[in-house]
Amino acid sequence: MDYIKYEVNGAVGVITIDREKALNALNSQVLDELSATLDSVDLETVRCLILTGAGEKSFVAGADIAEMSTLTKAEGEAFGKKGNDVFRKLEVFPIPVIAAVNGFALGGGCEISMSCDIRICSDNAIFGQPEVGLGITPGFGGTQRLARLVGAGMAKQLIYTARNIKADEAYRIGLVNQVVAPEVNEAGEVVKSAKEALMDAAMKMAGGIAKNAPIAVRNCKKAINDGLQVDMDQAIVIEEKLFGDCFETEDQKAGMGNFLEKDKEKKLKVVPFKNR
Ligand code: CAA
Repeated sequence: MDYIKYEVNGAVGVITIDREKALNALNSQVLDELSATLDSVDLETVRCLILTGAGEKSFVAGADIAEMSTLTKAEGEAFGKKGNDVFRKLEVFPIPVIAAVNGFALGGGCEISMSCDIRICSDNAIFGQPEVGLGITPGFGGTQRLARLVGAGMAKQLIYTARNIKADEAYRIGLVNQVVAPEVNEAGEVVKSAKEALMDAAMKMAGGIAKNAPIAVRNCKKAINDGLQVDMDQAIVIEEKLFGDCFETEDQKAGMGNFLEKDKEKKLKVVPFKNR
């Protein structure tokens, strides 16, 4: 892999898009490597992923403009499909994915963060869909996912105007769940950079998710994702099936047993996924 780093820390996998010279812009190779990395994740042991960009300045500054600049209509459509296929793989990945947005999240960068389950960002993050200024539409899911996340009116305004927004505005409109500031000491010196503080916050959240019953967490992701695609009558049936699927699992027996025995300290046992 030239452009993707993958590290596992306990039950948390961290994927870093590492093309810092181009502010982690997504060319075909990055997309292929990201897809292969997702295929290689050991789902027996990893329970939550974090996706971030290398460096302090940029999460992902979009799809690679140099690569796109000479594409024909057919090649443009194929490039859109390549991105969409990887982003969809991320969106329906069996375990939760947290986007740790460390700076610019523009175009394809905003779009890839929206394919993740949860977005948290550093206070220097900038979000936007600048595509119409480049003569194209958002093409890696932006026209669809932004509207679903922040509502059609706000999505249309951001996309039509191509206006970038800062972290606090992204938080206000519900695009991100949390904004993380650098840590400073009493003398006002930075003791933890924005990126370090962000990764700490992402690890803390991922660790908390990883402690919970893995079949239940996976089923929650599937219930929310699948349920949002259908009407409420069908959605509650999806929920019922995934709820039922949790019963008779080791976690359900242990989790409920702990409660009934009033054993608050007892934790769910960490056993490989296939043995649950
Ligand atoms: N594609 C290719 N290269 C990019 C890039 C991109 N999206 N974004 C940044 N780079 C490269 C620059 O070309 C530059 O390379 P060189 O050093 O070789 O010249 C390097 O990264 C550093 O960038 P800048 O010098 O521009 O850095 P800056 O601090 O002055 O500006 C920025 C930062 C505001 C993010 C600016 O780089 C920028 O506007 N980037 C493009 C953002 C954008 O328009 N993204 C949307 C792309 S379209 C898309 O994503 C379509 C889709 O939906 C699929």
